[in-house]
Amino acid sequence: MMMTMKMKMLRLCWWVKEVVLLVVVLELGAQVKVSGQQSYVNNHQLDCYKHFNSTDGFVCDGVSSSASTCSSFLTFRSIPPYDSPVSIAYLLSSDASLIASANNFSSDVDPIPSDTFVLVPVNCSCVPLLFFQHNSSYSLKSSDETYFSVANNTFQGLTTCQALMAQNPSIGDRNLSVHKTLQIPLRCACPSPNQTAFGVKYLVSYLVTWGDDISSIAVRFDVDSQSLLDANMLSSSDIIFPFTPLLVPLPTDPSAVRLNQSPSPPTPPPSPQTTAGGQSNSTDSKKWVFVGIGTSAAVLLLLGLSAFIFCFLRRRTRSKDYAAKHESNPNANPLPVSTSSDPDHSPLPDSKSSWSISSGGVQSAIDSLTLYDIKEVQKATNFFSQANKIRGSVYRGSFKGDDAAIKVMKGDVSAEINILKRISHSNVIRLSGFCVHGGNTYLVYEYAESGSLDQCLQLQPQPYSSHSTTLSWKQRVEIAHDVGDALNYLHNFADPPYIHKNLKSSNILLDGNLRAKVSNFGLARVVGNGKDEGLQLTRHVVGTQGYLAPEYIEHGVITPKMDVFAFGVVMLELLSGKEAAATNKNKNNDNKEELLFDTIKRVLEGDNVREKLRGFIDLALRQQDYPLDLAFSMAQLANLCVAQDLNSRPDIAQVFVTLSKIRSSTHDWDPSDELQRSSSLTQAR
Ligand SMILES: *[C@@H]1O[C@H](CO)[C@@H](O)[C@H](O)[C@H]1NC(C)=O
Ligand SMILES: *[C@@H]1O[C@H](CO)[C@@H](O)[C@H](O)[C@H]1NC(C)=O
Ligand SMILES: *[C@@H]1O[C@H](CO)[C@@H](O)[C@H](O)[C@H]1NC(C)=O
Ligand SMILES: *[C@@H]1O[C@H](CO)[C@@H](O)[C@H](O)[C@H]1NC(C)=O
Ligand SMILES: *[C@@H]1O[C@H](CO)[C@@H](O)[C@H](O)[C@H]1NC(C)=O
Ligand SMILES: *[C@@H]1O[C@H](CO)[C@@H](O)[C@H](O)[C@H]1NC(C)=O
Ligand SMILES: *[C@@H]1O[C@H](CO)[C@@H](O)[C@H](O)[C@H]1NC(C)=O
Repeated sequence: MMMTMKMKMLRLCWWVKEVVLLVVVLELGAQVKVSGQQSYVNNHQLDCYKHFNSTDGFVCDGVSSSASTCSSFLTFRSIPPYDSPVSIAYLLSSDASLIASANNFSSDVDPIPSDTFVLVPVNCSCVPLLFFQHNSSYSLKSSDETYFSVANNTFQGLTTCQALMAQNPSIGDRNLSVHKTLQIPLRCACPSPNQTAFGVKYLVSYLVTWGDDISSIAVRFDVDSQSLLDANMLSSSDIIFPFTPLLVPLPTDPSAVRLNQSPSPPTPPPSPQTTAGGQSNSTDSKKWVFVGIGTSAAVLLLLGLSAFIFCFLRRRTRSKDYAAKHESNPNANPLPVSTSSDPDHSPLPDSKSSWSISSGGVQSAIDSLTLYDIKEVQKATNFFSQANKIRGSVYRGSFKGDDAAIKVMKGDVSAEINILKRISHSNVIRLSGFCVHGGNTYLVYEYAESGSLDQCLQLQPQPYSSHSTTLSWKQRVEIAHDVGDALNYLHNFADPPYIHKNLKSSNILLDGNLRAKVSNFGLARVVGNGKDEGLQLTRHVVGTQGYLAPEYIEHGVITPKMDVFAFGVVMLELLSGKEAAATNKNKNNDNKEELLFDTIKRVLEGDNVREKLRGFIDLALRQQDYPLDLAFSMAQLANLCVAQDLNSRPDIAQVFVTLSKIRSSTHDWDPSDELQRSSSLTQAR
């Protein structure tokens, strides 16, 4: 019984809808077809299980190949967590600095007040013989999400559920689940040859909202109503609907128009001709107001429409409303933030240009990142309590039971995000997500339980105390091997290859099993290519004394060999337990800077090398046990790495091979042998 009732209702709805559509089509009449460009979606996006040509996208089969890609603009209304150029760029696969400049925002990361109208520059291209679109992707965040909610609520109508389903054929609507990544075709279009001939340069995908009508949109963009109607194959009697994109043809770049002077559209009372009597009160508790200019047949339309709406609302009650909650308390917590004088956190000189994530290949990697809401981050870190502080501006946090390290950084850190999201290696720290709020970026990393290498090395035992919490020889070799592995990956296997530029023991983190993870990519940059074999120059020398290669300090030369140099210093730290640059009082009681890479030269030169090396080795290691031969090999390797002349330094692949040999010999080495040997040695003396 219930079923048949339902069926009847559905059939009635379908019938009503067809009648309404028929009326609309009749209304359009012949005039539209002539100069029409792209057909308006006409609220068909609400009917996910029915196919309409207009819901798939704006067609591009007619365009010439030169018009198959163009710059275009989407529009978006800021809403947390998508309320900064960085986060909107992330959602829509655009570029944060281009968004900031198109909207005259002062920074890439400052929050945009909620519900501000944001222009989003994108490249729009034609999928041959099909549609114009700008590709983005999105990984599902909650089990409540549906194709409809993703299209309408998350992407605000920039795509349709039909297009989503068509372009994600392997993911059925019944098995959408958290972390599934959807391809998102965003609706955009390039001007047709005819439009170009009439001076149209850009088409903006404008999202209709409550209170809009054709003339108010035309005024906002300073175009004439007729061209707006033509561009969307509409006539003046047609109705436009909220959460649908309308193409606005523009002769100039819209950022010149300064649309943000009226951030949210003036909220006019419901226009008189559309709210016939009690319609909006009776059927529509959500203020579902259709805005438009009805002239003839308005009454008939409205009659049909109320039934139409009724049907849609029935359908929609099944899907929930997922609009993100508004931020109630934007300036919650003033935070200690790293300053730019700290070389660890200083912004990259070239960070501006690097946020672009438009190429399709990296999309899947990007979407493994989670964009957190500030409230989640505050909760995870206990409102950045002292107890959660790890060091500097890094806090420990817990997301759904998983520990994470959260680094608070001022300003634009898109460079680091950009690099880490493309890199996947077990010895490179994994970035799991981020949050942008109040001018700060919160980077959420995997948690390294054992802290940083420099801290571990400084856990010196009391002299001659037997018990030791320090790293054993085997552990040190594993750490060196891990770091070598990570650098080898960065220089030779990452796409594109990177120079870390800031390798040091405080940037090497250790997890619970003492596996090393290279972190802090804030200064990293892509290995230059071309004839000069990666030679790049900078005048902006930053880094930490003791790790910087001489050619970089003196001439600003940036090559992968500078990482090799720094890695040599790290190996020396592992061997000696000393800091890369330590201030010692010398005989004359002057403070003298002692650099490890100088010390090793003295150790390995001249006579008595083995004795001098023994003295160089970490006291903590000497109390345990270590194979002096292997330590010697490692010291020699490190010494090669810190060669003054970059051409005599080995490249990381060679270093890694040697380290692998040292590692396998270490596996064969049995501490008890050494113990016997050394004790027999002492006895012999
Ligand atoms: C080109 O556009 C103009 C005005 O928008 C229209 O009058 C004309 O018919 C269009 N031509 C074609 C081939 O669509
Ligand atoms: C919809 O598209 C199909 C094929 O792309 C085409 O044959 C059909 O005529 C289109 N319908 C309308 C109403 O444009
Ligand atoms: C951009 O914003 C700045 C202030 O942030 C203002 O001084 C400037 O006039 C704006 N530019 C335009 C073109 O509106
Ligand atoms: C569009 O593509 C060009 C060239 O590939 C690129 O320079 C530009 O940044 C892209 N624009 C956007 C918004 O991604
Ligand atoms: C579409 O999304 C908007 C928010 O972006 C929401 O207000 C509206 O109710 C949604 N429409 C439907 C039919 O769920
Ligand atoms: C998705 O649904 C189909 C059938 O509807 C099923 O065969 C398949 O196993 C499901 N896939 C997942 C990952 O749940
Ligand atoms: C966008 O995605 C479609 C289908 O997923 C693909 O055919 C097209 O090449 C993509 N466009 C770009 C510019 O990557």
